[in-house]
Amino acid sequence: SASDRLIGSAVPSSPQLSPTTGQLPPMSNTGSPRFRSTSSMQGFSELARERSKTVTSFYNQSAIDVSAEKASVRLTLATLLYSGKSPDGHHILSSAKYLHKELPVRIAHRIKGFRSLPFIIGCNPTILQVHELYIRAYHMLSDFPPIKDQDMEARFCKLVQQLLDDHKDVVTMLAQGFRECRRHVQDEMILRSFLDTTLCSRLGIRMLATHHLALHEENADFVGIICRRLSPKKIIEKWVDFARRLCEHQYGNSPRVRINGHVAARFPFIPLPLDYILPELLKNAMRATMESHLDTPYNVPDVVVTIANNDIDFVIRISDRGGGIPHNIVDKVMDYHFSTAEESAQDPRMSNLFNNITNSGNQSSPMHGFGFGLPTSRAYAEYLGGSLSVQSMQGIGTDVYLRLRHIDGKGESFRV
Ligand SMILES: Nc1ncnc2c1ncn2[C@@H]1O[C@H](COP(=O)(O)OP(=O)(O)OP(=O)(O)O)[C@@H](O)[C@H]1O
Ligand SMILES: [Mg+2]
Repeated sequence: SASDRLIGSAVPSSPQLSPTTGQLPPMSNTGSPRFRSTSSMQGFSELARERSKTVTSFYNQSAIDVSAEKASVRLTLATLLYSGKSPDGHHILSSAKYLHKELPVRIAHRIKGFRSLPFIIGCNPTILQVHELYIRAYHMLSDFPPIKDQDMEARFCKLVQQLLDDHKDVVTMLAQGFRECRRHVQDEMILRSFLDTTLCSRLGIRMLATHHLALHEENADFVGIICRRLSPKKIIEKWVDFARRLCEHQYGNSPRVRINGHVAARFPFIPLPLDYILPELLKNAMRATMESHLDTPYNVPDVVVTIANNDIDFVIRISDRGGGIPHNIVDKVMDYHFSTAEESAQDPRMSNLFNNITNSGNQSSPMHGFGFGLPTSRAYAEYLGGSLSVQSMQGIGTDVYLRLRHIDGKGESFRV
């Protein structure tokens, strides 16, 4: 029904959120002259009516309520990998049908999560904006007609791609939104469990969606997003190059990285989560190395990455000699938003190094900023049946162990 739609936007800065009409939301604080006069009784009730229309987009969503009660169907990667390719493209059609059914359910679960946030936090404009993005995605997907042929499937892919693009900044938006309302957070656990669940579910949704889109591509080494013979060394090297470039830009130099252990290992795995986790861990190691050697920036110890492969899982250890994580903060580094970025920006030796970055006004930079790198990486690793643990040798350096289960190993595979 019409009232079930996303009819208004409580967030004036997000005009793109009127999906069906492509027009600005009917209500915006600046647009309507009616809002200037609320003294009369009539003005007041109109205001109340407009407001309730807006609230309706978050409140009266019976279709979402129904979907949120359904269980999501999580697949093992082995299922995704071996579900087989049929020459007539039948596998693509059934993959699209699965997604068409599954995505609205998963998105409805997320919307339920937003609704369960403490009121004052759920009202933060940035968080509301993400909440709306999910409501909008829900309707666009569940309004999509049944996928019966290739034409429909191609249109469905367009929609999925568009939603992936629309949602690409969600992690940053959540980091920002929750930072803005941190002082309202009474129970740290609420925030942690909301972010763990939301971010992991988002990763799962994006893996499924990208997997489906990638099924259309012809690449002998890949089935969808699963690489048949992923080389941990290669993917580490890729992110070492990336992190070193950032590091050089910020500190004028970067540590070298040595990779040892099972450097020749190759096995089926999904690069996507590694593409998130590895740069975060390497940036942290390089930052610590550089900041503990500010007096000798052109002579810094190497970072060492060790790969261990076995028939159950594989382990990537990143060791730096960046002085370790001080005793008093070692328990906090896994908290969302915990960061020492601000302190290092105040070090006078740093101000010469990254003046062009800090004068942007806040302490965020591509190297460090929100305090999301470690907690997000750990949540992703655990979602994939693995773990992330940090060992600090105070005074010397830090070892971070990333453990991930094989898709087709002897142990039980994880589900996406
Ligand atoms: N290898 C390390 N050596 C020393 N301290 C570390 C190391 N890795 C992380 N830390 C400390 O833990 C804090 C949190 O790390 P995290 O990666 O979560 O956030 P960040 O790097 O500050 O910001 P972001 O990763 O979101 O850009 C860092 O600010 C830093 O103080
Ligand atoms: Mg970091």
